Amino acid sequence: MHVIEIDNLCAFYGKAQALSNVSLTVKPGETIAIVGANGAGKSTLLDCIMGLVKTTGTIRLNGEDVTGLKPADMVKRGIGYAPERFNLFPHMTVRDNLLVGAYTARDDIEENMAAVHRLFPRLAEREWQETSTQSGGERQMVSLGRALMTSPSVLLVDEPTIGLAPKVCAEIAEVLKRLSAELGLTVIVTEQNANFALSLASRLYVLEGGHVTAEGTAEELAQDDQLAKSYFGA
Ligand SMILES: Nc1ncnc2c1ncn2[C@@H]1O[C@H](COP(=O)(O)OP(=O)(O)OP(=O)(O)O)[C@@H](O)[C@H]1O
Ligand SMILES: [Mg+2]
Repeated sequence: MHVIEIDNLCAFYGKAQALSNVSLTVKPGETIAIVGANGAGKSTLLDCIMGLVKTTGTIRLNGEDVTGLKPADMVKRGIGYAPERFNLFPHMTVRDNLLVGAYTARDDIEENMAAVHRLFPRLAEREWQETSTQSGGERQMVSLGRALMTSPSVLLVDEPTIGLAPKVCAEIAEVLKRLSAELGLTVIVTEQNANFALSLASRLYVLEGGHVTAEGTAEELAQDDQLAKSYFGA
């Protein structure tokens, strides 16, 4: 069975259509990437899965139709979301920002906090730092950590490498790989940085103007010259 199965998803902002008949599947423990340029609909797709944007079509989670459920219901069902541009509270500490993520947590909060600190030792060292004074990479860690505070089984990550130096991107990739390898998390990550996506994901979907225009493994997609030129710098 698929963890996530999306069929013919459409989303509109007023009259403007942001997603057109998007279909995709994700297997348990798999990491998939949604690759696309600015405005392709990547954030909208994750917002739809999370119940933040109204859709037509169906979204199934472990076989259950969850289309139209509210974000809090999705959190209860085990979806964690690290949105684009973090949405942290800048004048709160690292610890308090993480606690915000835990307000609907089902499990022991301090246990989850300890798990986040193991993944990101830097956040343990900087527990009392205001996030406004952190580097971009550190803030991305808080954002991921906050999404993990509800111990999700599926993690949605929107453009984690945006504005980050290559070395920090590599650190983020390492953590996402550990989440999948050690905790068995299923991950959907969106990216403009196709090479970062390739380093993580077993399969990729290319999103253009709200349409899925290609899908497959890295090897499959690399065989398409046009695609390779546009997205993989080949
Ligand atoms: N709240 C909104 N109201 C109106 N239009 C929106 C809204 N959010 C997104 N859009 C439009 O929907 C389309 C898809 O936007 P979306 O943010 O999903 O793209 P994206 O792939 O995440 O882009 P980026 O890489 O820049 O984050 C764009 O044309 C955008 O202008
Ligand atoms: Mg976006």
